[in-house]
Amino acid sequence: MGVSFILLSLLVPIVLSVVFLPKTLRFIAELVGHGLRKSSRTRRELLLARVANETKHFERQHKEKSKEDDDWENIASAALGSAINGGKADSEWNGIVGFFHPFCNAGGGGERVLWAAIRATQKRWPEAVCVVYTGDHDVDRATILKRVKDRFNIQLHPPTVHFLYLTTRHWVLASTWPRFTLLGQSLGSLILAYDAFHLLVPDVFIDTMGYAFSLGLSSLFFPTVPTGAYVHYPTISTDMLDSLQIGGQGINAGTGAGYRGIAKKKYWQLFAKLYSKVGSTIDVVMTNSTWTQSHIISLWEPYRIKRSKANDIDVVFPPVAVEEVLQAVEVSEASEKNRGPYLLYIAQFRPEKNHELILEAFASFLHSSLETATYTNQPPTLVLIGSVRNSHDEKRVYNLRLLARELNIKENVEFICDAPWPLMLEWMRKASVGVNGMWNEHFGIGVVEYQAAGLISVVNDSGGPKLDIVVEVDGQPTGFHATTVEQYAEGFRKAFSLSPTETLAMRHRAQKSAERFTDRGFAEKWLKNMETLVALQVERAR
Ligand SMILES: *[C@@H]1O[C@H](CO)[C@@H](O)[C@H](O)[C@H]1NC(C)=O
Ligand SMILES: *[C@@H]1O[C@H](CO)[C@@H](O)[C@H](O)[C@H]1NC(C)=O
Ligand SMILES: *[C@@H]1O[C@H](CO)[C@@H](O)[C@H](O)[C@H]1NC(C)=O
Repeated sequence: MGVSFILLSLLVPIVLSVVFLPKTLRFIAELVGHGLRKSSRTRRELLLARVANETKHFERQHKEKSKEDDDWENIASAALGSAINGGKADSEWNGIVGFFHPFCNAGGGGERVLWAAIRATQKRWPEAVCVVYTGDHDVDRATILKRVKDRFNIQLHPPTVHFLYLTTRHWVLASTWPRFTLLGQSLGSLILAYDAFHLLVPDVFIDTMGYAFSLGLSSLFFPTVPTGAYVHYPTISTDMLDSLQIGGQGINAGTGAGYRGIAKKKYWQLFAKLYSKVGSTIDVVMTNSTWTQSHIISLWEPYRIKRSKANDIDVVFPPVAVEEVLQAVEVSEASEKNRGPYLLYIAQFRPEKNHELILEAFASFLHSSLETATYTNQPPTLVLIGSVRNSHDEKRVYNLRLLARELNIKENVEFICDAPWPLMLEWMRKASVGVNGMWNEHFGIGVVEYQAAGLISVVNDSGGPKLDIVVEVDGQPTGFHATTVEQYAEGFRKAFSLSPTETLAMRHRAQKSAERFTDRGFAEKWLKNMETLVALQVERAR
């Protein structure tokens, strides 16, 4: 505690100096960096020796092992290698990539990104060593790797992934900083980063948890070490800053008024400035969505332009498990005869999924299409598949059934509660259109599944489905956006009035769109950014 406190009081001026004082302090920081390099040199050598030894043992043990994993590897390296200047030669790059991820055993979406990134890096540069700086003391490498396999089905190559254990993780917990949490946690991440460098100075330093300040510290201490950030969510957003205005929205709405309000606003603005300055030091920035990208651009870009690092913030979608759908559902001329005029809406029976409006839109569409008698064979059917978690959900389903009766579409709506996965796949094969009614859904994995199954999507004109998922492929649409009941009905109409050729072409585009969200899609984009980091490392080490 005492030592850390002293550290903190040392680091605060350092941080401020990054922002406000140039040259001399930069020089001092580089001296500190030099010292850190020197003191961790022995550990570095031991680590590399250990990697060499384990690689040898691993190869000996697995010589006769079947090559189940190799196909992916070959395709991946062929596809990726050729894209990047010559490919082969720099696959021999053998630096140490440090991943700053203090909560690596958490098992959430952020961790999936981490492990998929490490796996891709291992495949691209078999000689490189990935180290993860983590605060999870209670778990050893074997346990973590097993969990990664069980939880995410990602098989890491053990000899070249190692863990370094941080002892100062409590400094980034929100509970450590009951007041000034944003600033406190950011300072905490500096302590944590110092802790990390004290253990080992990597050749490339990447933060995958949103600790931008730790990257800033790295570039201060080690100007030759390229830094990369994968941002899931901005630490402070322009929405937050705006919300303090009178008439703003959200939990802080209107708190910008009065003395305290003004102080808070100043504090947030100062923090946003600090965050942006730090963000401008990072060499390669990736975000998990277009939404995050636009926020990061609005904060960081002005400062990045000053450092001539403009215009390079890339969206790298996190991988989701859609390969199975892509494989299980055929999209071809032959498979078209298996599909009927079904509109599929897969969503939990929860209020925000807007089932009522979808029923109304469907009723409007159905009645008008029956009038014009477009459907000689079989009238369209809306299929609602969803899980029912409790009695509230049951009641909701009951009410939806009543509504379907009132709207006079009872015969054309099918409810399927708690469908098992194979049945859902069955419907994805049979249906033609996929529907999503939720407003401002952050991502929308269900919509990606529709696309993977070749369904034509009709989704709310908002959030991830609009910005990231149902977007044009090869300059042509993959589905339709709608806001009002009428627009949804119109979307259904359009989807069903495409010619057979157009329909099939749109299904193919939808599948292509879904591929961006696969492990492969992630790996390709991740490696493209990683190549930049490796090239920078090689260049600066000269
Ligand atoms: C090399 O690794 C093997 C098993 O991985 C271990 O038994 C052996 O002690 C290691 N040798 C050295 C020199 O580290
Ligand atoms: C990006 O990360 C945020 C925060 O974890 C999450 O809410 C959002 O759904 C993610 N976006 C995508 C496209 O996965
Ligand atoms: C779509 O989102 C809008 C808000 O943008 C909302 O008002 C509307 O009810 C939603 N439409 C449907 C059919 O869910």
